[in-house]
Amino acid sequence: MTGSNEHDRRIAAMFDRIAHRYDLLNRVLSFGLDMSWRRRAVAIATLGPGERALDVGAGTGDLSFALAAAGPSGRVVALDLAVKMLVRARARARSPIGLVAGSAEALPFSDGVFSCVTAGFAVRNFADLARGLSEMRRVLRPGGRAVVLELAVPPNAALRALHLFYLRRLSPLVAAALGSSVDAYRYLPASIEAFPDPDQVAAAMRDAGFADVRYERLTFGVATIHVGEA
Ligand SMILES: C[S@@+](CC[C@H](N)C(=O)[O-])C[C@H]1O[C@@H](n2cnc3c(N)ncnc32)[C@H](O)[C@@H]1O
Repeated sequence: MTGSNEHDRRIAAMFDRIAHRYDLLNRVLSFGLDMSWRRRAVAIATLGPGERALDVGAGTGDLSFALAAAGPSGRVVALDLAVKMLVRARARARSPIGLVAGSAEALPFSDGVFSCVTAGFAVRNFADLARGLSEMRRVLRPGGRAVVLELAVPPNAALRALHLFYLRRLSPLVAAALGSSVDAYRYLPASIEAFPDPDQVAAAMRDAGFADVRYERLTFGVATIHVGEA
């Protein structure tokens, strides 16, 4: 773990603790929808021949591998704070992606070296969202694109109540049943509720210097994809 502040240390320790069950819990808790959300993010990313992509908060690599499969291989770098998540990514590697331990809020790359930067379910965990977004913007070449996939709460009040009930009450039970950390899956709904709504995230992306900022809601607003151009 290379993140310097206490928040990063806690986040890395939590993801290190759940790394061994992370993929299974994702599939089960989202009923497999997480894979289709990542596919949509990859389609928006549109990585062209010879282009380099950075996937921040890459975890066990699902989004990184999907990006690599869609574009020319060897051009995706996966970065994460949690070394055990990266170790799992390495063990699962289906394509030759680069793996880097580091913080999204202090990216160890020069300005303008990537054509695309993605983040899958990661920015919600940043200590400083504005800083993370401006780092993503900094490493993009002019005309490059950021694609931020994140969990959210549905805008419809009834669906929101149902979804939050599911996340707060059932996800910790499912996590316990499948041998993962109950605390981490209590943190999950808390972090989703605490995260800014899609309009606020779009405003934060504009503040970070992105142009043509837009978002789309997925599955009744349970997830959101934000896009911005450098
Ligand atoms: C919910 S997981 C998502 C993993 C993967 N992107 C996916 O699609 O499944 C969030 C990941 O973001 C990482 N993360 C959180 N904050 C980070 C930061 N500031 N810098 C780098 N990685 C971070 C965590 O360690 C964790 O592996």
